Amino acid sequence: MAEFRLPVNSRITKGKSFPATTQGRVRTFRVYRYDPDSGANPSIDSYEIDMDKCGPMVLDALIKIKNEIDSSLTFRRSCREGICGSCAMNIDGVNTLACTKDLDEIKGDIKIYPLPHMRVVKDLVPDMTHFYAQYASIKPWLQSDTPAPPDRERFQTKEDQQLIDEPSACILCACCSTSCPSYWWSSDRYLGPAILLQAYRWIVDTRDEATGDRLDDLEDPFRLYRCHTIMNCTNACPKGLNPAKAIAETKKLIAARGH
Ligand code: SF4
Ligand code: SF4
Ligand code: FES
Repeated sequence: MAEFRLPVNSRITKGKSFPATTQGRVRTFRVYRYDPDSGANPSIDSYEIDMDKCGPMVLDALIKIKNEIDSSLTFRRSCREGICGSCAMNIDGVNTLACTKDLDEIKGDIKIYPLPHMRVVKDLVPDMTHFYAQYASIKPWLQSDTPAPPDRERFQTKEDQQLIDEPSACILCACCSTSCPSYWWSSDRYLGPAILLQAYRWIVDTRDEATGDRLDDLEDPFRLYRCHTIMNCTNACPKGLNPAKAIAETKKLIAARGH
């Protein structure tokens, strides 16, 4: 009988434990650790933290661990207010932003992993190279042959602006794409919900004159049509955006123009 084994380095081992040094409201953080350069398997390290001496968000705890317990813990963060998207990770089984995830919303131990199905650079840092290359591929800038007015910006009506209002709020955190089963299995060719939301943002921008080219570029069995409307993406978005709807609207626009 064939025996299947997980690849080397995919099996997670028990890691180090760092007990609390003070008494109080102690909680345990179980954090994924992986350093590809070490050759060792990933592990889960446990850190006990006195919550009376820690801020309220998951990112506060990670910063406390790094500053006071284990400086080798690696993660990304910048704005600390849900704007930059760099602290996206899997917390308590859900992709979200560490800086806006309230620890009081999590029961029991706090389990923290990197975004799923991405190559890990180290610990909680996923490799975003391919994701950003896919973003660049949709030409995320205004394309127009009509020159801008010499004395002012290209104005839009309020109604036209509202078309891009929501998709422009995307912070490219990748929480949606990395919760999408189609993206897990086909990210080499499927653009995924985050990038498709951004493609849609330019398709519906009334100042853009490359709409036809943009739709041509997406009319492909993989780039767009690998979306099977599973809706994980919309449920995952920490900004409350709806990439699944944008994908459905894009499919409708392609269907409506015919050939
Ligand atoms: S709706 Fe489409 S993009 Fe969103 S999770 Fe499902 S398959 Fe992925
Ligand atoms: S749609 Fe939401 S989850 Fe997806 S990248 Fe944008 S902000 Fe993040
Ligand atoms: S640190 Fe910027 S979104 Fe969390």
